[in-house]
This record gives sequence, C-alpha cells and structure tokens, in this order.
Amino acid sequence: MYEQISHALLNDILDEFHPEVSREDLRHFYTRLGANFYAIHSLFSQLYGHRDDFKQRMIELTERLARAYIQRPDELKRLDMAREEDHNWFLSQEWVGMALYSDGFAGHLPGLTERLPYLTELGINLVHVMPILKCPRGASDGGYAVSDFRDIDPRAGTLDDLNQLAEAMRKRGMLLTLDVVVNHTSNEHPWAQQARDGDKVYQDYYYLFPNRDVPDMFEETMPEIFPETAPGNFTWDDAMERWVMTVFNNYQWDLNYSNPAVFIEMVDIILFWANQGADIVRLDAVAFLWKKIGTTCQNNREAHLILQLMKDCCQVTAPGVLFIAEAIVAPLEIIKYFGEDAVIAKECEIAYNATFMALLWDAVATKNARLLTQGLKSLPAKLDRATWLNYVRCHDDIGLGFDDADIRACDYEPYAHRRFLVDWFTGVFEGSPARGRPFGVNLKNGDARIAGALASLVGLEVAMANDDAEAISDAIETILTLHGMILAFGGIPLIWYGDELATLNDHTFLDDSDKASDTRWIHRPRINWERAERRHQRGSIEQRVFDGLKRLIAVRKTTPAFADFNNRDLIDVDNPHLFVFLRTHPTLVGDWVLVVANFNDNPQYLDLENIGNRGLFRHGQAKDLVTGESPALFNGRLVVPPFRFYWLTDQRPGTHL
Ligand code: GLC
Ligand code: GLC
Repeated sequence: MYEQISHALLNDILDEFHPEVSREDLRHFYTRLGANFYAIHSLFSQLYGHRDDFKQRMIELTERLARAYIQRPDELKRLDMAREEDHNWFLSQEWVGMALYSDGFAGHLPGLTERLPYLTELGINLVHVMPILKCPRGASDGGYAVSDFRDIDPRAGTLDDLNQLAEAMRKRGMLLTLDVVVNHTSNEHPWAQQARDGDKVYQDYYYLFPNRDVPDMFEETMPEIFPETAPGNFTWDDAMERWVMTVFNNYQWDLNYSNPAVFIEMVDIILFWANQGADIVRLDAVAFLWKKIGTTCQNNREAHLILQLMKDCCQVTAPGVLFIAEAIVAPLEIIKYFGEDAVIAKECEIAYNATFMALLWDAVATKNARLLTQGLKSLPAKLDRATWLNYVRCHDDIGLGFDDADIRACDYEPYAHRRFLVDWFTGVFEGSPARGRPFGVNLKNGDARIAGALASLVGLEVAMANDDAEAISDAIETILTLHGMILAFGGIPLIWYGDELATLNDHTFLDDSDKASDTRWIHRPRINWERAERRHQRGSIEQRVFDGLKRLIAVRKTTPAFADFNNRDLIDVDNPHLFVFLRTHPTLVGDWVLVVANFNDNPQYLDLENIGNRGLFRHGQAKDLVTGESPALFNGRLVVPPFRFYWLTDQRPGTHL
C-alpha cells in the first residue's frame, strides 16, 4: 500500500544507506521493500513509535534487511523466486518431515549428512534438525539456551558442516528446518555477560528489576512452565543485584522486545540462518514474546505484532523461507499464530497442531474418539495458505491443553479427566500398559504433563517384557494408526526420530546430572544403528513399524486429496470409538479419501449408509489405499478391527472422474 508518511520515511532511509549497500543491485529487494514497507512501518510504530530513536531504528532495520539480502546466496535467491511462482508449494501432500537431534540420530552434523539415505528410504523429505547452536555444556535445555546465535556448537560440528548438510539436502529435494530461539538467551550469552558487567545497553536487552515489587506483581498471573526444576519466573543475579525474568529455566533469560534493538538483532539472526540454507525457521516459544503485568504473559497482542513484523521483514529479504510457530497454547489461541483478519498467513505459515496431538492421546487412553471429534469440531477454520505441523510425539512433553468446555461436552469433569490421562500414561492407572513419566508436575494447582517415548506410551514396552505377541501387535497397530492420522489430516506430518523403529524409553538420562531432573530426556533417544538394521528382518518389530510407516508415507505422497487446502470434513458417526473424516481434493473431482480409525480394543462397525448421502462408494467396493484391499463389509456395514484404520476410496488412485 502507498501511504505518504511511510513513503517519505522510506525515501529518507534509502538516502541514508551506507554507500557500500547502495552500490549493490537491489532491484528485487526494492520491489519487496516497497510492497511491505507500509506494513513494516505501521507495525514498527505500533511497537516503538513512542521512542525518540524510532527513525534511527527504522533506518537500522532496513539497512540490516538490505545487507542480509546482499549476503543471500544466488542459489537461494533463485529458490525464493521459484517459490513465489509456485506459492502453494508447501501445502502439497508430498512433504513428510522428521524432527531429530543430530547427536542422538547420528552423532553430529556430518553423521547426519551420511545418514540422509536412511531418511530417503523412509520417504522423509523435510528434516527439523533440533537446536545446534552454541550452548553451555550443562545448562542447555537441550539446545534451547543459546550462548551464540551465529555459531554451531562444536559438539554438533561447524558452520561448514551445516552448509554441506544443507547442500546435500537440497540435492535430494529435502527441506531443512532450523530453530531460532527468539524468546530468550542463555545466561552465558555475551549479551547477558555484558549486562552482568554493568553495560546498560545490554541490560536493556532483558527484564531486570532491583527488588520484588514488579516480579511479585507479575507472578500473580504468570503460570510456571517448569514448576519442579525452575519454580517462579524470576531469578536473582548476584553480579547485577537484580531479579532477571526467566520464564523457562533459571539460566534462560527472557529477551526484552519492548527494546527495538532486540527485535532488530533477532530479525538479523533469523535472516542469517535463512542465508545458511534453512528453508523453514522454527520460532521457539513465540507465545511468550511480550510480557504485560496482569496477564499470563502468553498470547499477548504485541507478541502477534512482533511475529507479523518478523514475517514482513523476512519476506523482503528471503521470501521463500517459511516460519513455524511453536505455540503450545489453548486451541483457540494456537490458530491466531497464522495471523488474524487475513486470508493468507501473515505471521507464521506453519503452526504446531498441539491440539490434535493431545486429542489423539486422549483417544488412545480412553479407547474412544469422543473428545478427539469434539475438540476438532470446536477448532475454528484455518486460513488459506497456512498449514499445520501434525505430530504424535516430539522432544517435549504432552500437555493436556484441551478446552474445558469440550471435555465437559463429552461428559467428563476436566480436572478428573486430565488426572486420569496422566495416571493412564504413567502406568499408575490399574491395567494401563503405558510407561510414561510425569513432567511439569505442579503441586500448587495439580497440573501435570507427560513424558515418554511413543512406543512405551502405547504399551509396547510392557508387551515385550511379557512376551505377549497379541499386545505387541496392538501396540504396533496403534503406532501406525496414530501416524495414519497425522499423515492424512492435512498439513505437514512430523515424525519424531526413533518412532519409525518403535524405540522405547531411554533411561540413560538418569545417569547424567545435567539431565536427570528433566524427564523429557526419556524420549530423546540415541539411535542404535544395529537395531535399526532389524528393519530388514521380516516380522521383527522394527520391520513392521518401519515398513508400515514407509508404506503410509508413499501412499500419502501419491494421494492429492491429502494436500492441505482446508479440504477436510469431520464426520459425526453413531459409533463413538471411531474417528472419521473425509478429505476431498478441491479441484480433482472424485478424488477423495474417507479416513476411519478405530481406537477401541474391540472391532467396531461403521454404517456406510450414514455417510452415503455424500455420494461416496458409488463405484463399487470400498478400497483401502494402504493395503490395496477391500475391507470387511456386510450389508453396508464396514468392520474396522481393533486399533486399526483405513484410508478408503472407491476407485483406484490416480483415476479421476
Ligand atoms: C520450547 C522448546 C522446549 C524448551 C522451551 C524453552 O518450548 O520446545 O524444549 O524447553 O521452548 O526454550
Ligand atoms: C513450551 C510450552 C509448554 C511446554 C514447554 C516445554 O513452550 O508452553 O507447554 O511443555 O514449553 O516443556
């Protein structure tokens, strides 16, 4: 949009560009800057317009964008243009992701590059490499306490190793996702160190308080994220004689985004990693970006303004790069991280679908799909050109963040129901075969979350210990069914490394004093490559899970109805044990898939007639795309065996009416 005030400012800014910057060919940069400048100016002034240094900061921001553009490799600039042409590229069903720690997966970055063929074998073409930036040896929160935002941790490798990985991935048509931990730094970051040394400039990068007045006020309404290991949201620092805001661990200092210098630094860092070849940047803990007294300090309006501004800036310099919002918050809040009052995403193009993840786990424990269906029904429609990251497990705990109203609508009492789920997954509930661990237990309010490896949470560990072949099969089916859901739901499925081999809980973290108090380490495995070889042994657990997933991935990729164009209908059926939804391709007529999953331990039936008015199954037999076979049907009633699912259609894939 053209508007005089911002345009006059833009003219001034361009005049003040450093000669070295103005000398470059910036044609594409300028057209994008022109397109986004009104929005950038307006957001920047909403956040920082009251400050004397406003104009100076605008100049600085714009110049940083230009410098990052100049540094952007030509190959990546070409990719930006190609993605501009093909702007729906990331909604395709062809993307299937895996998240992994490079050390746990393959020792380090060069190891990961060597293991790419394994990922290709499975069908993975998007990899989220968990944090690899420099962080302290002990107090690292698994890499989320960064002490240098521009360098790789020597344990993971070097910047060269990363560039080689990025290049090798590009050659294979794989996308690279990297983290930028935007909300906080390690207390060993040079900014924090300089703040400690009394440097006022860097003290303004953080929230520091001389006494408890303000912290106590904040604490009234702020929840605790790690109540067991890091109670409270502030940590006393002896050197500065100040309370520092530390929402996560006491060594993770929250960055102060009311200071524009912090915003500019972090945008520059995002662009730095975009220029190293990240196709997607995962923005960590975005719900927490703005702190305001009297609020939970999550999901504040300004946090959204910051993300919009980050997006607008990134579009000027590296428009092909996507953002993932990691906002593990209430269902109605998550969806706002795509941007509100918009048609296409204006904050993050991708968001963790924590709601779906938690609801799937509810279905596993209750053996029915009531809350799963109810919870999804209450989710508002998502924007076009925005997509979910669908996952079953990740490096974090499972938080039971459903909506209380939905829990009540299923006739459960919210507190008791959450309690049941924690008891179920930690194996405390009588008869539960799950072997998870509690995480984030808060004795003050009774909250708790769950840690544990997928295979151990669905009973495989117990089944193997009992040498119970039937229970082993049930656990394997459950693993495949959960993945069958995230692969079909709409969005990018993200598999957690190790789950493709049914990796069990790993207790070795207990021997490491830096990790022992954080039970999330139980599900962050070190891949045993000898065991991984068993995926080639017919009938082994590894083979059944790996090949099962491989087949699902291959089928997903060739099923256009699985692309994400908001083309999903949840279907209410009489049988509460079944979860049923229909995916219909928006333009390929007759291209649809009916997804039916049975979360119960007994076979269940579905009246196909109930859904008959949608004109499905007119062309004869229902066919399961996964097995290529026709499932059991009797007089219009489809039978779904325990813990199994179908991707049904009535025609051969690829033939369209
Ligand atoms: C995010 C990460 C989590 C980390 C936290 C603090 O939620 O996923 O692992 O502990 O941020 O950085
Ligand atoms: C995240 C979430 C929280 C999660 C934690 C990591 O930002 O808000 O639910 O459990 O950090 O454990």
